[in-house]
Amino acid sequence: MSKVTLIKGDGIGPEVVNAAIRVIEAAGAAIDWDEQVAGVTGVERGLETLPAVTLDSFRENKVCLKGPLTTPVGSGFRSVNVALRKEFDLYANIRPAKSLVPGGRYDNVDLVVIRENTEGLYAGIEHYIDTKRSAAESITIVTQDASRRVIQFAFEYVAQRPRQRLTLVHKANILKYTSGLFLDVGKELASDHPEIEFNDRIIDNMALQLVLDPQQFDTIVTTNMFGDILSDLCAGLVGGLGMAPAANVGQEMAMFEAVHGSAPDIAGEGVANPTALILAGALLCDHIDQAVVGDRTRAGVERVLLDGQVRTPDLGGTATTDEFCDAVVGALERIPAAEAVG
Ligand code: NAI
Ligand code: MG
Repeated sequence: MSKVTLIKGDGIGPEVVNAAIRVIEAAGAAIDWDEQVAGVTGVERGLETLPAVTLDSFRENKVCLKGPLTTPVGSGFRSVNVALRKEFDLYANIRPAKSLVPGGRYDNVDLVVIRENTEGLYAGIEHYIDTKRSAAESITIVTQDASRRVIQFAFEYVAQRPRQRLTLVHKANILKYTSGLFLDVGKELASDHPEIEFNDRIIDNMALQLVLDPQQFDTIVTTNMFGDILSDLCAGLVGGLGMAPAANVGQEMAMFEAVHGSAPDIAGEGVANPTALILAGALLCDHIDQAVVGDRTRAGVERVLLDGQVRTPDLGGTATTDEFCDAVVGALERIPAAEAVG
């Protein structure tokens, strides 16, 4: 039985996290959940946004399932998500976007965005130049070391994929030093991996190409902000933010979440699509050597989505979060364990 830190999160967080736990446990997960709080929920309970006990729990368990955490726009506290990724040096953010719903914008999309997770423009080094706030500056940090480890991770990841194709996304024509350094490291590593097809694209062209012809790409590696934006775009190609899971991986720790945020516009209504969090739970199971459970979970979700009877409103259906969850648990009961292994 693996011990895993659990942060249910803000907004729709508890709704989708509870659904994810129900599904992966029905799929056979053996997990001892160590529930902790963070974000707005932490503040509401008189704690900090990132309480020390939460950090200690994650440090000890090394694995975390996390619901979305709200970050105030403009003023207010800094992103707890970014802080967690930085604190534990979770340097690679892996965001698969795969078509599971037929009749969507595209079928047969199978993309993975690997986002550098610790630096870039999200280093958060910003200031006003004077007390009148007449201008503000933000500093982008790109280091050889952080670029090398995430791009190296991407090459190793691609080696496990059926299509061995890696696209590095940058803006080295304008940001010649920062984006240029990331591109140079990529080209250098590409020469060590001749078996993998490597190319690069400028970010604006990449956004266009992804919308026009996403099937030409397989795995994408890029800097923090471009990865943030492109992964939402890729989620849109496969049915929306409710469909896209994320794994934040470091040397020995990993945190699993959805690409989406706390969705305040639908929080408390019980209609959020839990698929992204369920698929994040499946990635967590793969990570803790319960890959059979991960496969079973994905098979259950795919059956319900393909069947099409039970879908949440973001996918054009009328099902609640709980009804979708019930349907996946029901589908799991009809999937023999052996089928999931294959
Ligand atoms: P968001 O991802 O929460 O929502 C964008 C749109 O997608 C909304 O219309 C929402 O209803 C919809 N949506 C998102 N997830 C959905 C789901 N599972 N089912 C159905 N519809 C879904 O992005 P937004 O509104 O920009 O951010 C809200 C808050 O979340 C902010 O405080 C932001 O900082 C935070 N956030 C946290 C993240 C994290 O914890 N990793 C990631 C992104 C945002
Ligand atoms: Mg984002």
